Amino acid sequence: MSSLSPLDGKVAIVTGSGRGLGLAYAQELARQGAAVVINDIDQATAAEAVATIEAEGGRAVAVAAPVGPTETAQLLVRTAVETFGRLDILVTNAGVLRDTVLWKMSDDDFDTVINVHLRGTFTCVREAASWMRANEVAGRIICIGSPTGQRGNFGQTNYAAAKAGIVGMVRTWALELKKAGITANAVIPVAATAMTATVPYFAAAVEADAAGEPMPAFFRHDLGFGTSDDVAGLIAYLASDDAAGVTGQAIGIGGDRLQVWSHPEPVVTAYHDGGWSFDDLAADFTEVTDNLQSVGEKFPPLPDELQRP
Ligand SMILES: NC(=O)c1ccc[n+]([C@@H]2O[C@H](COP(=O)([O-])OP(=O)(O)OC[C@H]3O[C@@H](n4cnc5c(N)ncnc54)[C@H](O)[C@@H]3O)[C@@H](O)[C@H]2O)c1
Repeated sequence: MSSLSPLDGKVAIVTGSGRGLGLAYAQELARQGAAVVINDIDQATAAEAVATIEAEGGRAVAVAAPVGPTETAQLLVRTAVETFGRLDILVTNAGVLRDTVLWKMSDDDFDTVINVHLRGTFTCVREAASWMRANEVAGRIICIGSPTGQRGNFGQTNYAAAKAGIVGMVRTWALELKKAGITANAVIPVAATAMTATVPYFAAAVEADAAGEPMPAFFRHDLGFGTSDDVAGLIAYLASDDAAGVTGQAIGIGGDRLQVWSHPEPVVTAYHDGGWSFDDLAADFTEVTDNLQSVGEKFPPLPDELQRP
């Protein structure tokens, strides 16, 4: 590996990096020079990811443990420091889905998703940021959101709560960690992985990818839907010294498309002297009804040639 690689000498943890997007992030961080702590729930999957990175000339170590509990966060940071001597970058990527409509969602469906995504992000970032502050490392915290957290999605109460919560925490951490020179950003990815392979709308793109062919331009360009590798470059860039001035952002990436998400802003501000009583609102609610905001993501209709049965 060249001594001029941008992440030379840096050490990263990527949660849920045995496969999918997390593995692509870990591979790209290693290609750019970082040593990587791979984490997943399954020992064999994590070990395979380490072997893949080592075969490409990178350095990696596996930690098989479920994120969520504080003990796992502590184990991840301890492994980074004991194996590679320090910690510069944390990517909180581990995730699961338990999709179903609100009235069928069990307590377990809700708790499982919140525990892995939201609590797992909180415990890992708390541990990593504490180490970085104590050791005066101007580190990088990169958390993974979703279009669902930004706009809502049918059948994803638990996931929407977790992903919106992650972006809210990132904004808070950008404030709290600024003085220490640690950046905190959210990446909103879209890519063909095990998580999206079963969505019928994406079938033609997943099919092309599995056949080793480029995905149709409609997916890459119009939908911002591509491969895991299309997302990985942004993760490595945000981890680099070049991105020192980027913090508190939510950045969408997928296929050929990159987007900067706005943070929620009031679109209308109206005043009523003495406050807004029920009667005032009943007399005139047009400030709201004239400015209703949309919910959910709007997908364009699939072109005929990309329709699958
Ligand atoms: N694929 C997409 O288009 C997309 C879109 C938006 C957000 N995301 C987010 O990106 C992340 C990765 O998604 P993916 O599509 O690669 O999914 P994936 O299912 O292919 O990979 C997720 C990985 O996390 C691991 N994991 C699950 N629970 C874990 C736990 N408790 N501790 C450690 N590892 C655990 C899984 O074993 C798996 O290897 C998730 O946070 C997901 O919500 C993905």
